Amino acid sequence: MAEFKSKIKTIEWTGNCSRMVDQTILPERFEYVDIKTGQEMFDAIKTMIVRGAPAIGVAGAHGVVLYAQELQAKNLSREEFVSELLKKADYMATSRPTAVNLMWAVKKQKEIIESSKSDISGIVEELKQNGIKLEKEDIEINKKIGDYGAQVVPKGATILTHCNAGALATVGYGTALGVVRSAFANDPTVKVFADETRPRQQGARITTLELTMDGIPTTLITDGMCSYFMKKGMIDMVVVGADRIAANGDAANKIGTYTVAIAAKYHNVPFYVAAPLSTIDTSIKSGDEIVIEERSREEVTHINGKIICAPEVNIINPGFDVTPHELIAGIITEKGILRPDYNKSIAEAFA
Ligand code: MRU
Repeated sequence: MAEFKSKIKTIEWTGNCSRMVDQTILPERFEYVDIKTGQEMFDAIKTMIVRGAPAIGVAGAHGVVLYAQELQAKNLSREEFVSELLKKADYMATSRPTAVNLMWAVKKQKEIIESSKSDISGIVEELKQNGIKLEKEDIEINKKIGDYGAQVVPKGATILTHCNAGALATVGYGTALGVVRSAFANDPTVKVFADETRPRQQGARITTLELTMDGIPTTLITDGMCSYFMKKGMIDMVVVGADRIAANGDAANKIGTYTVAIAAKYHNVPFYVAAPLSTIDTSIKSGDEIVIEERSREEVTHINGKIICAPEVNIINPGFDVTPHELIAGIITEKGILRPDYNKSIAEAFA
């Protein structure tokens, strides 16, 4: 198993609250924040204090525990408690719309609420334990993804990635960056090119930070540069994460991923998606059904609080795009690398 030197724990249940790295202030400051109420968790997910599909899944599960603790203090009947908590869980699942891991993890908590035979304090404890279990599983799954993915990384490869699908997008280790970590552990000549990832610069702010913390050679490029370097033969493969994958393999990820995938196809560079099975939404047939989050005007008009355009210019800011399955060489999961035909290989992975 590959070694993960930086040991970042992005989110963790501690005592009676959820502790997480505040990702809005990276890379200037590395600080933890304690989230103590359900509403604080909703806001932390929405404002991206915690971000990345698997990390917001765990955050959503913790958020349900926080709501449960608040309702426990209200002296409700068991029936009232369950009914109120299910409503709060549904609300938590609306904090961001695209990453299906959030809905998946909240659903897991709802199943406990609905099926538990315990009294109120027993339900709260079961939810807490499930949140902790999801944390542990996330790291184990990422290590499996990393080790499967490392098998397709050529010796000495330069791997391009977009956005941050690393330790800070998960509980730890990462999905796409888990592949990088496992590959690097076997072959220290592996290198990374990280796209800046406008508008929120997760590639620049977060990916370069966590990879350099682990001593992995990393070069930061701006989003428009990838085809230039592919044409020069300087990129051997692309690995990105995903926020939701449809039954046919279409994969939603941070805006700009689709452009990278088209450039990769044109230049014969293999383009891989690394994601846990909890990112695959088998209830939708294709990427056309994925809801794309619309984000604020300020993310585009400003960088670090400074305006970078004419103040009155029109802005559109979709947070994600969908890479069609034809452009994807493989989906690296904890059950192995799924290959086309994805309708078949995804169905088999869930069988
Ligand atoms: O808006 P973000 O920062 O939450 O978007 C994150 C991404 O798009 C990641 O690539 C994706 O969640 C995969 S994380 C392992």
